[in-house]
Amino acid sequence: MDVLQAIQTRRSIRSYTDRPIDEETLKKLLEAAMCAPSANNKRPWHFVVIRDREQLAVISRIQRYHRPIGQAACCIVVCGDESVQETHDFLLNDCSAAAQNLLLAAHGLGLGAVWCGVRTGADVSRYLKQTLSFPQSVVPIALIAVGYPAEEPKAGDRLDPSRIHYEKW
Ligand SMILES: Cc1cc2nc3c(=O)[nH]c(=O)nc-3n(C[C@H](O)[C@H](O)[C@H](O)COP(=O)(O)O)c2cc1C
Repeated sequence: MDVLQAIQTRRSIRSYTDRPIDEETLKKLLEAAMCAPSANNKRPWHFVVIRDREQLAVISRIQRYHRPIGQAACCIVVCGDESVQETHDFLLNDCSAAAQNLLLAAHGLGLGAVWCGVRTGADVSRYLKQTLSFPQSVVPIALIAVGYPAEEPKAGDRLDPSRIHYEKW
């Protein structure tokens, strides 16, 4: 799949089969995540891979929009280290770029994934920091549920000329 095809056909996948993800495939996903651009090339990210079914079930129930995590083969917590990138906006930008790379790599490898958002200070953020023993400077920024897809949502044309401005608004 070429890069434009991957970008244009990726959709959020929230339903998965029971098929596990092998180590080699998982490593490809994480390598893709770490290929993301980052401010000053600081690469302030860490990734916590959760495959424990009980833990996935608990996390999926903290926030109602995070239910897909309970069925996924794994959940990758994209974390940012505030001691590496002290500018919070950049920390979010860098880790979001890594998260998007993860989604696209998953799609390209025949997996399905969905980004589950984590707000600063939310219950899920506190739970992850405490239960997964994050260092003080590390914050969870996104949860990416990944598995082999059990649904095939169609991708539509999203080009919206009204959102494009040349030279000025
Ligand atoms: C910051 C962010 C937070 C999101 N949080 C959730 C979420 O909590 N649960 C969920 O099912 N999808 C979540 N999504 C996925 C969006 O709902 C999805 O990307 C959007 O509906 C467009 O659909 P598509 O990904 O299939 O193109 C999130 C996406 C982003 C970028």
